[in-house]
Amino acid sequence: MIDKETLKQQAAEAALKFIERDMIVGVGTGSTVNYFIEALAKKHYDIKAAVASSLATKKKLIAAGIEVIEVNSIDRIPVYIDGADEATQHLSLIKGGGGALTGEKIIAHMADQFICIVDESKLVDVLGQFPLPIEVIPLARSLVAREVMKYGGNPMYREGFVSDYGNQIIDVYNLEILDPQELEAKINQIPGVVTNGLFAKRGADHLLVAKQTGIEHLKK
Ligand code: 5RP
Repeated sequence: MIDKETLKQQAAEAALKFIERDMIVGVGTGSTVNYFIEALAKKHYDIKAAVASSLATKKKLIAAGIEVIEVNSIDRIPVYIDGADEATQHLSLIKGGGGALTGEKIIAHMADQFICIVDESKLVDVLGQFPLPIEVIPLARSLVAREVMKYGGNPMYREGFVSDYGNQIIDVYNLEILDPQELEAKINQIPGVVTNGLFAKRGADHLLVAKQTGIEHLKK
């Protein structure tokens, strides 16, 4: 039985095949991506630079000796590697468990190819078992919480958490997300929402799932 950490590492290493010399690489946030950063540094890939989806990732990349450039200084990112909290066979995702959803969504939008790396525990038929994170400006916290209750969700304020951009997060429990694109758009329409953790309109292009039996590669 391969343990979960090893599976995360295997998914991360499988993503290396998408990395080419002189490339700008978008790098997500989280424990699975941390294995990717380690692998990238160890193999001495001659990438041009990385773009970080969060301050935490930026620090890790710099500590690993990888040059980091600002998102605003470029207009496209050939490849973006990131994890997820839940993923479907259709490559729709819930992200933001680590609270970096806004930076992640910006980079995913700019990326030509979004490679999502997960262990098998993240693969689900229907999104929503994992609470859906919503980043809100503090003024709108209660409004957004009331609005998402109309979709059957049970909102919980993520106590003590402040995003990289000074915002707060609401985690929404008990959702059964049958139409991820529709819900993603609806939540983003609520005033004060910065973004939500559904990555459905721009889901992944490739999903690398590390399983007990090896890597499963799902494509759009
Ligand atoms: C952070 C994220 C992460 O990709 C997600 O939480 C998965 O993290 P991990 O690889 O630690 O399970 O969206 O905002």
